[in-house]
This record gives sequence, C-alpha cells and structure tokens, in this order.
Amino acid sequence: MTVLVLGAGYLGAALIAAHLQSGDRVVAMDNGFSTDWDAVERLMERGSATLVRGDIRDAASVASVVARAWPFQVVYLLAAQASARPDAATPEYTEETNLRGPRHVLEAVRDAARAAGSPPPPVVYGSSFHLYGPGLHGDIDETCPIGAQADLSHLSKVYAERLGELHANRDGMTVVPVRLGIVYGVGPVTKRDFRFVTVPHAFALRRLGGLPVSITPSGVRPLAFCHLDDAIAALRLAPVGVVPGTFAPANAATEVLTVPEVLVRVDASAREAGIPVPDAGVGEPGPSGDRFRVHSRLALVGWNPRQDVAGSMPGILRHYAGHQRTVTASAPG
Ligand SMILES: NC(=O)c1ccc[n+]([C@@H]2O[C@H](COP(=O)([O-])OP(=O)(O)OC[C@H]3O[C@@H](n4cnc5c(N)ncnc54)[C@H](O)[C@@H]3O)[C@@H](O)[C@H]2O)c1
Repeated sequence: MTVLVLGAGYLGAALIAAHLQSGDRVVAMDNGFSTDWDAVERLMERGSATLVRGDIRDAASVASVVARAWPFQVVYLLAAQASARPDAATPEYTEETNLRGPRHVLEAVRDAARAAGSPPPPVVYGSSFHLYGPGLHGDIDETCPIGAQADLSHLSKVYAERLGELHANRDGMTVVPVRLGIVYGVGPVTKRDFRFVTVPHAFALRRLGGLPVSITPSGVRPLAFCHLDDAIAALRLAPVGVVPGTFAPANAATEVLTVPEVLVRVDASAREAGIPVPDAGVGEPGPSGDRFRVHSRLALVGWNPRQDVAGSMPGILRHYAGHQRTVTASAPG
C-alpha cells in the first residue's frame, strides 16, 4: 500500500521506517523546520520512498504532494510546530503551521478524493493527551471532555481536532486523531535540541552533559507517557475498524508518572551506566496520591503496548552518549 506522511520529524521518521519495513510505498513531506534532514534522506533509501521538501502552510504545496502520492490508503498528519517552549518558534509560525496546515491537508485530501470519485482515505492526526488538560482523576477514555491548555502548540490540537470533526460530519471524511502521551525512545530522528525533546530525553541529556536539573512545581502532577514504538503502533492501528466518514479519536498513553518519578528512572539508569549523578534531592518521587488511568479504544483492535520509561532509559542514555559533544554544544540552557 501507499501512505502519505506529512511531517518527517521524531514520530514521522519512525513511522516512515515502520512502513518501509512492511514493504509499503511512502511519500513524505517536511519543510525542514525541526528535523534531521540527512537522517530522513538516509531513511528513504530503505525502500520505495519519496521525500518532498514542502510546507503545510502553503495550500499549493499540500495539494501537490497529495496529487503525487495519490492514490494512497492513509495520510498521517504529523507536521507541526510541536514544542510548547516560547523560544521554539514565533506564535505566528505555530498558528500558521498548526491551524492553517491541518485545513490545507483536509481540504486537499477531500478535493483529491472528489476528483477521483473515490472515498477519502483516513487522515490520522498527531494529537496530544494534553488535550484533556491538567488535574485528571479517575478513568480517562476518549469521551472525556477537553480541558484547559497552557501553550499555543497544545491549544492548536483542540482546533485541529474540531476541524477534523467538521470535515467528517460535513464532507464524509474519516478523521482519526491519536491523542499521544509524552513520547520517548530512540528513533531515526532523535533530537538533542532542548527546545524539541521530551522530559525523559532532556533529563538524559542533562545528566550526560553534567548540566543542572530542575523541576517546576507543575512537574509534580502526574503525566501520561508513551514509548515511540507503542506510539507508532497506535498511529498505524488508529484507522482500523473505524466507520468510514466518522471522527474517531484514540488515546495512546501507556504509563502515568510525575516528572520527579521520571528523573528517578533516568538517574537509576545513569548510575548503572557510570554517569555521575549528584545526590541532591530533586529526584525524589512526587506525591503518589490519586492517579488517573488511561483507556484506549485501540485495545479493541490489538494495540498491546509493551514498553516503559524505566526499561527504555538505558537505550536512550547509550544513544546520546555516542553524541556527547553535540549534546553540550546544542544545550540552550
Ligand atoms: N513527541 C511527542 O511527545 C508528542 C506527544 C503528543 C503529540 N505529539 C504530536 O505529534 C506530532 C509529531 O510530533 P513529533 O514529536 O514528531 O514532532 P517533530 O517536531 O519532531 O515533527 C514535526 C515535523 O513537522 C515539520 N514541520 C514543522 N512545520 C512545518 C511546516 N510548516 N510544513 C511542513 N513541515 C513542518 C518539522 O520539520 C518536523 O519534522 C505533532 O503534532 C506533535 O504535537 C507529539
């Protein structure tokens, strides 16, 4: 089959690798904003793959890559300004990419399907578990209400999901947002820039670089995590069994931890690897009180996540240890 992958960053590159491994044809587009272009180019040599440099802010570029990949069985929308940090991009860039981009994609896929007289292929969207907001309790499934957002990148998920729902209801599109927990693990594009890495990776880089570690007061709230391999499996399974022409969000989070608990796991692996870890008390576990539990409709279609933060840290530390010089040089603070 053919898949179109918009956004060849951390998740997109791992997804491309997985589809090429399965023998699928891949067409991918990225504008190079926050990926390792050389790594993605090397990845394309593994199978039948085409990489296009293009921007989802530009409707013509999106229509062109849709035409080039057509007919395809699924499109993954993973191109985004994904960082919550204000120093990652201007607010304008985040809005144009994360709000206008999804509209361009949905419209281009709808119009291509209409022109071909065929049903539109499912659009799988990289959404976020942060959509449910902070202070979660009890059981969280896909029917839980959307909560408060703390930054433009995550706020944009609310708009893009609702836009997808609009296109499902109005245009008969199949739109499948995957509400991903905080993803960690080594893939073909594993970043080292602190603006674009998630907390397990940031702690690993800081311990390796001998840099200070701090935890904000909000860090003691439990958060949802998901290993890269489990996230890729979730993205691939997300359209399975979905009624065509519907909007069908899916959770993809497998472990609930506080940030201090993540640090405890990083430090345990670091000590085992002989990496110096100061004895300061930042790595104490947070309050163990009430934890929310994540449920996913994907369990019904065979999603069987297997990895956790503790078991993944040795591999993450080993990966970065091979790049230690770059680590310290690229640390913005
Ligand atoms: N990684 C996580 O922990 C996580 C968790 C929840 C949700 N998500 C979501 O999943 C999606 C993918 O995340 P990721 O971790 O791979 O992020 P990423 O930043 O690694 O990938 C995004 C890709 O989009 C590209 N891009 C940015 N602006 C673009 C534009 N205007 N046109 C074309 N390409 C553009 C970037 O160059 C990058 O390669 C994002 O929407 C993100 O918000 C990620």
